[in-house]
Amino acid sequence: MKLLNQNEAQSCADALLAWFKDDMRPLPWRKSYLPYEVWISEVMLQQTQMERGVRHFLRWMNRFPDVRAVAAAPEEDILHAWEGLGYYRRARFVQAAATAIVERHGGNIPDDEKALAALPGLGPYTVAAILAIAFNKDVLCVDANVERVFSRLLDLDEPPRRKNAARVIYEQAMQMLPRGKARLYNQALMELGALICGKTPRCPECPVRHFCESCRLGIQRERPVPMAKIPTIDVLGAYGVLMKEQHVFLIKRPEQGLWGGLWEFPGMISAAGESPESAVRRVFREKFAVDVDIAGSLGTVRHNYTNHKLVAAFFQVHCSAEAWEHLLTHGEGMALPSADIRNVAMPAHHRKLAARYFEKTGETSRQLSLLGSC
Ligand code: ADE
Repeated sequence: MKLLNQNEAQSCADALLAWFKDDMRPLPWRKSYLPYEVWISEVMLQQTQMERGVRHFLRWMNRFPDVRAVAAAPEEDILHAWEGLGYYRRARFVQAAATAIVERHGGNIPDDEKALAALPGLGPYTVAAILAIAFNKDVLCVDANVERVFSRLLDLDEPPRRKNAARVIYEQAMQMLPRGKARLYNQALMELGALICGKTPRCPECPVRHFCESCRLGIQRERPVPMAKIPTIDVLGAYGVLMKEQHVFLIKRPEQGLWGGLWEFPGMISAAGESPESAVRRVFREKFAVDVDIAGSLGTVRHNYTNHKLVAAFFQVHCSAEAWEHLLTHGEGMALPSADIRNVAMPAHHRKLAARYFEKTGETSRQLSLLGSC
């Protein structure tokens, strides 16, 4: 490890800011740095790639132009706008925080650390990002990009989240912070991590390569030192798509837990050794006391979430008229006109299946009529 001295730290920050001024991406919240826009962008960008984040951000701002619009919206609309970003708890927290901002602060996002930290769902990173990027306060927001940049710059020989490494990063980054320029400085670090100092570093293009210890030693690819890996878990899901008279049967997931409150085709993670067809029949029998027949496969959808790799197998299923009646009068399901399926919030793998069969015309109309015929 090698720390920068005061002069080096200042020159390094100058070079970084000069590069950022010329090369920053024209991201939509960078036009006016409205606190509401900065807040939403930061929450959306957690665990999300920039391109997807920007797409959702623009759609969200169109639908909810200010804090009051978020607070006043039905939860279903919030979840629908969040679809594709995953981690739906964040969307619920955004709405809870918006409600608190309206009640406690007249709809204005506060510029005070204590007041921000007291809002639902705002952790230390988001609080720091709002203070630095929206209000230009002299604080640091250290995300994975910034950790990577400093791991290489200082040649840290342990994972950046370890207590000691995190302290070194914080102290060096704070020493480098040009007072009164936290908005530019924090974003410049993130941008450098995203555009130049990524997984595969592009050192010849780097504005701070002359200050970088791991580049000098030629070991930049060995930095950052990785954390111990969380093992991935393979899971097989089995789901039944039941239609009658252009209506499709969907159930709402419990409010608490994974994909809470979203609508989906009935199904389950199949037990070891059980075929997906059998799992689908069992779901309808155990959950709704209804027997269904498997009419055919609708294919599979792959979806990764947290450390899980899910293969979701979907089947078209049939049931009797009496069973359909029973389903609609008992339990928490609904029969939705299939043309309206795009208007409800669904987990990503169900949305992909729905998009394949219900939201297209032309080439898939044959599949649609197949589904509609039961
Ligand atoms: N990642 C998270 N916030 C960001 C920002 N403001 N600019 C670039 N990348 C980011």
